[in-house]
Amino acid sequence: MSVTKDLTGFVKLAKTGDVPAGTVRTFDIEDGSVAICNVDGAFYAIDNVCTHDDGPLGDGKLIGCEVECPRHGARFDIRTGAVTAMPAAVGVDSYETYVDGEDIYVKLDD
Ligand code: FES
Repeated sequence: MSVTKDLTGFVKLAKTGDVPAGTVRTFDIEDGSVAICNVDGAFYAIDNVCTHDDGPLGDGKLIGCEVECPRHGARFDIRTGAVTAMPAAVGVDSYETYVDGEDIYVKLDD
């Protein structure tokens, strides 16, 4: 029996080929931007803006399941948005993703 995914609240933001394995890329949304990360073919999405001083996390370095802010080196767990290294003290939002073929959907609304 096949189950159809409920895509309510999801937005098609990228193609899988846009985010090679081991990288993070930035994608614009209506009121900001989202950083999508590819860890060994699994896609994760978090807010693009670092909570320390607005650094662009989509320009950061992906280290395992963490992204390192390019400005001062804070790190966030891309699976949860939680802070894993200072100087940031507050996590970023994380978003559910869903891949259908080559399309990456991100759930921006709860
Ligand atoms: S802006 Fe990200 S660590 Fe400072």
